[in-house]
Amino acid sequence: MSQKTWGGRFTGGTDSRVEAFTESISFDRRLYRHDIIGSQAHARMLAEVGLLTAGEAEQIARALDEIGADIDAGKMEFTIALEDIHTHIEKALIGKLGDVGRKLHTGRSRNDQVVTDLKLWTRDAIDDLDGLLRDLQHTFVESAAREAGVVIPGYTHLQRAQPVLAAHYFLAYVEKLQRDRDRLRDCRARLNALPLGAAALAGTSLPIDRESVRAKLGFESVARNSLDVSSDRDFALEFVFCLSLIATHLSGWAEEWVIWSTTEFNFLDLPDAFCTGSSIMPHKKNPDVLELTRGKSGRVIGALQHLFVLTKGLPLAYNRDLQEDKTAIFDAFDTVAGCLAVAAPLVSQTKLRREVIAARLDAGFLDATTLMEALIARGTPMRSAHEIVGNLVRECEQRKCHLADLPDASFPSPEVKASLGVANALAAFKSYGSTAPAEVAKQLRDWQQRLAN
Ligand code: ARG
Repeated sequence: MSQKTWGGRFTGGTDSRVEAFTESISFDRRLYRHDIIGSQAHARMLAEVGLLTAGEAEQIARALDEIGADIDAGKMEFTIALEDIHTHIEKALIGKLGDVGRKLHTGRSRNDQVVTDLKLWTRDAIDDLDGLLRDLQHTFVESAAREAGVVIPGYTHLQRAQPVLAAHYFLAYVEKLQRDRDRLRDCRARLNALPLGAAALAGTSLPIDRESVRAKLGFESVARNSLDVSSDRDFALEFVFCLSLIATHLSGWAEEWVIWSTTEFNFLDLPDAFCTGSSIMPHKKNPDVLELTRGKSGRVIGALQHLFVLTKGLPLAYNRDLQEDKTAIFDAFDTVAGCLAVAAPLVSQTKLRREVIAARLDAGFLDATTLMEALIARGTPMRSAHEIVGNLVRECEQRKCHLADLPDASFPSPEVKASLGVANALAAFKSYGSTAPAEVAKQLRDWQQRLAN
């Protein structure tokens, strides 16, 4: 008899080149735990509806546990002749149980099985990512607390703009990461509908109980349309989109820190353990971890493109193209998880060079906008105040001095000079969400409490 689960209608064997071309075991073996959990739930349901005896279902469940342990121990021999992980596990089961094993695939197809496995895997991957994102948030919050009183120049267009608290800066990344966590939670909620029971494409004439399998596998609902189920990879696209956005956030942060760690900026003291040297230039300390974090975002965004192109022309139900989804999903996940795992310790061990930053704060007219607002507060129309301060800045550039060095007579009212200097400019902020010290302190406390729970 053929090795294939589908061998019945074929006379000859499969061309070995075709086996090599069509296999997925080299990458989908990663789904084995989820395949086993799904099969155990399916077998127990089959017993509930009388398609198996209770004894047969328990025999199957136990044998599947043993197969899982064998795979854990590296004892399963993988072969492209058995195409994928589903076939390997079913064949191993039949090897152990004979005819009882031959009953497991009752009322299901690999088409609904593979989506079920992938959804179960993605749910776990989301839970892992949530922990990693939380760890990184935690290190940013700790940095915010450690550098609480430090003032840094804030930039737009990479040009000096206004002074901000370092804590405000670190908490900005905590917000981005929170949205990343929220987005993954949304993705998890939407994917949480059970595919199994859709069978090949049309459902089954056998009396299966999908609700029972749903409850066993912890899905929120049962997917309603069997034709939709076997073609649905929306969840994979959403998941990899979430990953792409995380990678994009990390890449922007990495870019900023690469710049901040240059001799020109010299704002950061990066930990030696997270930098590398040069094989020829003895003095070098390179921010390779940050550069790779920036670079790896390309892989993740590429995976999203991969999935869009893969699915954009597919008719309903299962098409073999779908087998190609997994390499993109796994690689995007591994890449982002790897980036997050090094980002957290890197952030926690990086220190701001406070003296360097402090010594440079008075350059770049960081107080100009506050001066303008002081004029507005005293009744000058905004556009006029903008022009007045613009003229003062030009005057300073000619005289090579700071705004505070200009004679009193240069200002429409000399009292507005009280807003000058970085410390005064920073202290003047008031609005909700601003870098006002009291606002930032409140948000820092909020985040500390939120992450402690
Ligand atoms: N190896 C396949 C995959 O990963 C499993 C589903 C195969 N279904 C089929 N009808 N050939 O997508």
